[in-house]
Order: sequence, then C-alpha cells, then structure tokens
Amino acid sequence: MSNENKLKRLRKKYISPSFSLSYNEPLYIVRGKGQYLYDNKGNKYLDAINNIQHVGHSHPKVLEAATKQLKKLNTNTRYLDETIIKYAQELTKKLPENLNMCYFANSGSESNDLALRLARNYTQSNETIVLEGAYHGHLISLIEISPYKFNGPGGIGPPKHVHVSPIPDIFRGKFRSKNASQLYVNEIKKIILEIENTGAKVSSFISESIMGCGGQIIPPKKFLKNTYDLVHESGGLCIADEVQIGFGRMGSHFWGFETQDIVPDIITLGKSMGNGHPISALITTKEIAETFDNGMEYFNSFGGNPVSCAIGHAVLNIIDEEELQANAFSIGALLKKLLNELKNNHSIIGDIRGIGLFLGIELVNNREELKPLTKTANLVINKMKERGVLLSTDGQNHNVIKIKPPMVFNKENAYYIAENLDLVLSNIE
Ligand SMILES: Cc1ncc(COP(=O)(O)O)c(C=O)c1O
Repeated sequence: MSNENKLKRLRKKYISPSFSLSYNEPLYIVRGKGQYLYDNKGNKYLDAINNIQHVGHSHPKVLEAATKQLKKLNTNTRYLDETIIKYAQELTKKLPENLNMCYFANSGSESNDLALRLARNYTQSNETIVLEGAYHGHLISLIEISPYKFNGPGGIGPPKHVHVSPIPDIFRGKFRSKNASQLYVNEIKKIILEIENTGAKVSSFISESIMGCGGQIIPPKKFLKNTYDLVHESGGLCIADEVQIGFGRMGSHFWGFETQDIVPDIITLGKSMGNGHPISALITTKEIAETFDNGMEYFNSFGGNPVSCAIGHAVLNIIDEEELQANAFSIGALLKKLLNELKNNHSIIGDIRGIGLFLGIELVNNREELKPLTKTANLVINKMKERGVLLSTDGQNHNVIKIKPPMVFNKENAYYIAENLDLVLSNIE
C-alpha cells in the first residue's frame, strides 16, 4: 500500500470525518519554505491560499524566536514578564490611540467569543447584527452568528438574538445600483428598529471589513462607516474581525478596517498573528475593558504566554523589516491587473475583486445571468493544483477562487498564477 493510501486509511480510522481534506486527490505535504510547499515526492507547489503562514512557511526568525523563548521560559500570564508587555506595546502602536487594551487567546474563535462577551457585558444586551455570508468561528457562540455556517450544510439557522443583514455585495447581492451602499445601510437601520421595537437594544455589529468566507466582498463605499454610526447611535458596539485580513495584507493599510475609514470599538486578531503558532488577540478601549473587569478573572491557560508573545512579536518585526505590507500593495496590484486582463479573454470570469494580497475571482455562466459556476471553480482549483498552484474556493456559492498567499509572494509568482489560470480556463471552456 502506498504511503498516501496508508495515511488516508489511518486518517479515516482515527480522525473525525468532520475534518475535510483539500482537493479531489489530497496532497501529502511534508515541508514548507517561504511561499512554497513540497509533497512527499518532492513536487513543489506555490501556496496561494495560506494566509496563516503570513511571513512565509518556516521563517527562520520565527523559529529562532520560538526556540529561544522555549529554552528560557513558558508560563501562563500570572507572573510579571516582559514578553507580553513588549508585544502589546508594539501591537497597539499599529492601532488608533483609543484601541490600547489587549487580551490574548489562542484562536480567532476565542477572540470573537470574548468580543461577544465584552459587548454583552458593556451593553447588557445580546442582540447581535451580522452580515449574510459571514464566518466568525467554530464555537457554539460563533456558529450562531455565522450565516456561512448556520445557513450552510448541517446548519439550523440563527437563534433569536442574531439578526442577519444582506451581504453588501454589489456584484450579485440584493442591491447593485449606484445607491447600493445606502440601501444596504437601510437594512441595518430596519434591523435596529426591529430590535428596539421589541424593547431590547443592540449589543453589537460584528463584521470583517472585507469579507473572506463571504467571497472577498468589498462593501460599497461608506456602508461600514454609516453602519458604524447607526450602531453607535443605538448604543451598540462595533466589532471588526481582522482574523483573515489584518497585519498588512491589504497593502494600502495595515488593518482591514482602515480601508473603510472606520474605527471599531473592538478588534479581533488571529491566524497570521503567529505565522501558524496558535495565538490570537482582542484589542479594545480602556473603558470597555474596565467595564468587563467586574471581578471575574479572565484566565486563559495558554493565551499570552511568553513563547506565543515572542513569536507574535517576531512576526510583527518581520512584516516591518521585510516591508511585507508594501509588497502586498505592489504584488497585489500587479496580480489584480493580470487577472483583469484574463477577464477580457474568459467570459466565465464574472468579477475580479479584492485588495492587496486578498483577491477573489468569481466564476459565472455569463456576465448577464451571473449563475454561479461552483463545480467549475472546484475543477479549476484541482487543475491548478496539477500545475503546482494551490488555491481554494469560497463565497456563499463556493464559486469564488480565493488568493491569499503568504505575504512574501513575488512578481514571478503573480505571473505564474495568471499564465496557468489562463491555460486552465482555456482548456475548460
Ligand atoms: C474571519 C474569521 N474569523 C474568525 C475565524 C476563526 O478563527 P479560528 O479558526 O482561528 O478559530 C476565522 C477562521 O477561518 C475567520 O476566517
């Protein structure tokens, strides 16, 4: 039996079937370096999906920071220690002045769950507004606020305290006209009124500033700004989920929320923060943090431990030293331009969108009917894999090919993707 078949058999025997494998024929990846992954046969793949390995697979400085700290000390946060303070200082330097109180955790889900707790405590309400198609994590509290999950296979819809506003998608969403932004804001207004009419009040509005699982959706201009104003007027808090899009990936800005000209009350971070090491954070204002400090300790066995903070700090330094935000800006712009050129030759490309190294290619039957080509998108990523490029699909119809590579992506990589995508699409059409 081949090694792969043996692994497949053992995986089936011991690992829950709820874990999925990518691609029709799964890959057996044994090594990673920079933006490349290598399988057991020595084949090299360009990793265009892994936004967690932000500064590149197996970055030597991340390894060095981890081993140095592991050799010295690893404890919980109940002792005085420089590592957590230095990291919090550096992290908050990247944020608006009022966002200066840090909580550390181990996953994006933990951060978002904590964000809901903070908001519920601050507003004494749990009425939560979310966007259709959004994903915020795998805990019960987050499946409940993730239409991507509760409206998907196995989902049971939202609980009563969760209110879903239409996805602000001007390509295939409910409103596509010039005044779409205002029309989407009106939907938020309606929800707030509905909540208030029952005698309740808004707790929070949570969203990504560019929707990832939603299919790389950039909301129309001012949608988030006006939504934030309405939520604030109603006494609610605005939570920005930066788990997928933070840390310079947008190129033009360090954080996704900055691209929308908004200042959240709470931001949640994860994924790329530790380059694969499980670390996450929530950052909020002093006032919200002080209100939460009601006598109940926030204890997290692993969150904020010295090893995690040393790694997180190293990742921040590498982003700056290697100018990875600027790289995301220039390479992202080049790749978007090349993809837009492909759009001229391939009518099934309905839309190219995104910012920096966070791009999406939406496949449709044609640009009038916009029927989502889910199966074709899946075929494309499998064919691209055969050509050594790893991509994924997402969006409510899984017809959006996502590109969110390690930030060390280069010019050659951009051309390689565009050329191969051109060939794959030509063969399929
Ligand atoms: C936007 C967003 N928020 C939260 C999460 C949950 O993060 P984690 O998987 O680290 O719990 C994810 C994970 O994919 C995500 O994409």
